[in-house]
Amino acid sequence: MDNLLNIDRLKKYQAESLVSLATSIKSNFPLIKKEKPLVNKNIIFLFLEPSTRTKTSFKFSSFILGANIIDISPASSSITKGETFEDTLKTLSAYPADALILRSYENSHIEMAEKMLDFPVINAGLGTLSHPTQALTDLMTLKEKGIDMKNAKISIVGDIAHSRVARSSIEIFTLFEAKINLCAPNYFKPKNFSDIPYYEDLDDALKGADILMTLRIQKERFNGLSVDIEDYSRKYMITKDIMDKYKINYVMHPGPVNEGIEISKGLQDSKRSLIHEQVKNGTWIRCAVLAEILAGKKI
Ligand code: CP
Repeated sequence: MDNLLNIDRLKKYQAESLVSLATSIKSNFPLIKKEKPLVNKNIIFLFLEPSTRTKTSFKFSSFILGANIIDISPASSSITKGETFEDTLKTLSAYPADALILRSYENSHIEMAEKMLDFPVINAGLGTLSHPTQALTDLMTLKEKGIDMKNAKISIVGDIAHSRVARSSIEIFTLFEAKINLCAPNYFKPKNFSDIPYYEDLDDALKGADILMTLRIQKERFNGLSVDIEDYSRKYMITKDIMDKYKINYVMHPGPVNEGIEISKGLQDSKRSLIHEQVKNGTWIRCAVLAEILAGKKI
């Protein structure tokens, strides 16, 4: 594997291999820390959008594997002086880097980076298009719970239109032949994925579902769209009563969570929530991605 740009570029065996490597690193954690397979590797972090989970876990993964981190903060970089993304890439290409980890608001940026840089590029969340390491993390979390993906019935609920997580999740769950449906109000209906059942009504979507993934409302991507958040919450907020009524085994959420909007207060800390497990597994999946791309070997 040379890059990690999107789930649709991954074969099923590659996703399986990354999850299995992540699981092995997780269970051998102190040992891996001693091995440091990425010592002397230089990884540039360029996060053009805020992040807590993805950035922190990529940093932990880099430190665990022994890599050096060069973190470019957009606020204190020459981007604030008007340097374009293209010129920023040209500048980065001059350094002895071994990889770029990129988060961006702009869907075209990852392929630009792939074309312009002669070192690997890893997608840490791209506009509305893709978030492959989140999808791999979610797959790992479900597999850890013993979920047989072929028999899983997963409902993805919420702001699907603006969600890169939804897109990458749909791609990975489809790759593993899970049965999925999408549920959103008309204004959050996805433009593509016409082959996947879509319901406006939560009741229709959740009948028969056993896993529910709810999504953050992405106000920063509304672009003039006017949404009555209270009305949205009345119809789509996931509560304990909803989990009970439809016999949902697990609720997932990529975070950050807006409690009281897409998920009721306290539900993320309940036994049927995988949300904290998703955060934990992020470190191990990102270790696996870095090890696979930069060490080119199984640990
Ligand atoms: N899930 C996710 O991408 O979270 P962050 O924005 O905090 O990285």
